[in-house]
Amino acid sequence: MTQEPHVPFGMPRPSALDLAATVPETGGGNGVLAAEAGGRELSAPERINVEAEARDSGVFEVIEDLDRELVGLDPVKTRIREVAALLVVDMARRRFGLEAERPNLHMCFTGSPGTGKTTVAMRMATVLHRLGYLAKGHLVAVTRDELVGQYIGHTAPKTREVLKRAMGGVLFIDEAYYLHRQENERDYGQEAIEILLQVMENQRNDIVVILAGYKDRMDQFFSSNPGMGSRIAHHIDFPDYSLDELLAIARIMLDRQRYTFSSDAEPAFRELMARRMPQPRFANARSVRNALERARLRQANRLISDGKLVTRDDLMRIEAADIHKSRWFTEAGHDEATEVRAVPAL
Ligand SMILES: Nc1ncnc2c1ncn2[C@@H]1O[C@H](COP(=O)(O)OP(=O)(O)OP(=O)(O)O)[C@@H](O)[C@H]1O
Ligand SMILES: [Mg+2]
Repeated sequence: MTQEPHVPFGMPRPSALDLAATVPETGGGNGVLAAEAGGRELSAPERINVEAEARDSGVFEVIEDLDRELVGLDPVKTRIREVAALLVVDMARRRFGLEAERPNLHMCFTGSPGTGKTTVAMRMATVLHRLGYLAKGHLVAVTRDELVGQYIGHTAPKTREVLKRAMGGVLFIDEAYYLHRQENERDYGQEAIEILLQVMENQRNDIVVILAGYKDRMDQFFSSNPGMGSRIAHHIDFPDYSLDELLAIARIMLDRQRYTFSSDAEPAFRELMARRMPQPRFANARSVRNALERARLRQANRLISDGKLVTRDDLMRIEAADIHKSRWFTEAGHDEATEVRAVPAL
């Protein structure tokens, strides 16, 4: 018997389609696809090609896009593949009448600002929708303020309204630990937590809750709210990006906006990021995005003030000068907003 080489679920596999076509027929058993099987329960000797099922759901495209468009994050990508595999197998089991509770998919994403938590949560919502776990697959992102009221009686309706909006999709609670105020036991946040806990337990077919925030604060939150911790099935940590990853992210962002670095702009940008990384309020990929926005602003200013005719390439190219004018090169420590205002108005 030949052994299939092991390829992680969701990775491109050239033989996947062949595989679908050559499901062996033994006895009365056929390879059965979802469409053919209709609503009938399958009998034990029948076979399901789970990989073809996954392909038909369109989940591979989402995973492939994720691999292509998001730099690094390997453990995160692996976990998404695992969750997708779990759901495909769950669907297959159901078709044989192997009933089980639907898997618990509430999650916690921990990591520094700008490490991709919100972006990945949106992709996760799409994956869960394609695999039939969530009816709609949209994402509702909230913070404490949208869940907790200021006065008695205000919190429950606020939380319920948010939950209603998120039904069929993902409820993403950013900096979820602010729901709990250590110093104030009577804080209304606790009321929101109780309602969330109930819904997370009883309506898990209708909604997936993803909590996000810094790891240490989230750990504290779970130790003061063990009920919440025990309802989270997947804890996923988003590491800070390395300098090389930040640069790769910059290239992807520029490319998407139809800009390029000149040959000396790229090392300049690398140097800029190296200076920025250890500074306060550094926010990983978000800082890359912001730095590129400012480079774009300076490029526009340069092109106008040069007063020359410009080509398509000129309009696309960010020069080293557009980077070197950053405050991280010129002077240290004054506020970002000051710098943006300092660019002369057109
Ligand atoms: N690995 C990555 N590759 C490419 N772009 C990325 C990556 N991670 C994040 N980004 C981009 O960086 C920006 C910030 O990401 P996102 O908002 O998902 O971070 P976050 O972890 O939710 O941050 P915060 O904690 O501040 O809310 C987005 O524009 C996103 O597309
Ligand atoms: Mg976010």
